[in-house]
Amino acid sequence: MTLAGVVEREDAMASGKARYVWTGTGNGMELLGALTLPGVDRSVPYARLFLRDTLVPGHISPGSGLLADMALVVDELAANGIRHTASGKGGKITIALWAGRGVLRAEVTDDGADGARPVVRTDPGGESGRGLHIVAALAKAWGHRPDGSGTTVWADFPSLGASRPSS
Ligand SMILES: Nc1ncnc2c1ncn2[C@@H]1O[C@H](COP(=O)(O)OP(=O)(O)OP(=O)(O)O)[C@@H](O)[C@H]1O
Ligand SMILES: [Mg+2]
Repeated sequence: MTLAGVVEREDAMASGKARYVWTGTGNGMELLGALTLPGVDRSVPYARLFLRDTLVPGHISPGSGLLADMALVVDELAANGIRHTASGKGGKITIALWAGRGVLRAEVTDDGADGARPVVRTDPGGESGRGLHIVAALAKAWGHRPDGSGTTVWADFPSLGASRPSS
């Protein structure tokens, strides 16, 4: 996967030897942590635990509604990666958490679905197609971008207080 904090060096790209350089920050955000899991349903609770263990120490209070909202969104995004992409056929998903100025970002990267991307379903009577509506309702903003042959779906939340844990 390509984390947002990894930049492509233009000179390397120009020479045809693309490589990636870790900068420590991406889009003005600090990477708090990333976890890669097998693309199976049993991974979803681990994603939730990772979210809690990463954010609670410095960014969110344990009983916060924000944590519950983020967990629900990560559940939906992880479930989508597992259900709708090659991640669920022997692949992997990666959850990454970022902190920026006034924002917490959760990202889920999958192994791709032959170029198909997330699409918000509009059939009100549909038995499925609820997940991204939940994401849109709970996140301040969300979106997706190609990541190699896969997709990274991201969701932003307002961070309470400082963008970084005080040291
Ligand atoms: N990571 C993804 N990669 C490719 N397509 C996706 C991805 N996530 C979602 N989609 C597409 O977007 C559609 C809508 O996703 P959404 O989560 O809203 O509904 P669902 O997963 O079909 O059903 P539900 O979440 O209600 O169980 C999916 O049916 C799928 O076609
Ligand atoms: Mg879904």
